Amino acid sequence: MNLKDKIASIPDFPKKGIMFRDITPILADPQAMNYTTEQIADFAKKVNADLIVAPEARGFFFGTPAAMEANIGFAPVRKPGKLPRETISATYELEYGSDELQMHADAIHKGQRVLIVDDLLATGGTVEAIQKLVEQQGAKVVGFAFVIELDDLKGRDRFKDIPVFSLTHYKGE
Ligand code: PRP
Ligand code: MG
Repeated sequence: MNLKDKIASIPDFPKKGIMFRDITPILADPQAMNYTTEQIADFAKKVNADLIVAPEARGFFFGTPAAMEANIGFAPVRKPGKLPRETISATYELEYGSDELQMHADAIHKGQRVLIVDDLLATGGTVEAIQKLVEQQGAKVVGFAFVIELDDLKGRDRFKDIPVFSLTHYKGE
């Protein structure tokens, strides 16, 4: 399957000069969704993960079905104030300012092998913050899986010792 046929490219969104890669055509197509889910689940098995962790919102689309397919658990990462029980937090830098992500404090157990899943790897700031949350809990990140990697931003360079799997790659336009 050529997954890029199911990824739309929208120029100047959300602002001028940005090419937005839109994964909603994958969601609309059960074959593309099955393929994506299987690829990520196979990677989860390869790295022997026993939990998938993914951030709202777009990470949930792929992290949850991949966890089911790999027969392992799933734990959500959310923006502050959304999770009802005790949470742990990590901050990460944005182009202007910083943002914060949270998980339930009991979502990950010591010693677990965690695969972090998201729709897109850009700078890597989001998943690096999630790596901090996982490691705070005494667990280990054994891999990262993305539907799209923006190669020019070199996000994978942050994770030299951890395998990074991306189903598609985009350079420039
Ligand atoms: C986008 C995308 C990734 C992240 C990648 O999420 O879905 O999660 O940015 O960027 P980075 O590698 O530079 O951190 P966004 O924050 O736009 O939110 P959404 O998933 O809720 O739409
Ligand atoms: Mg996101």
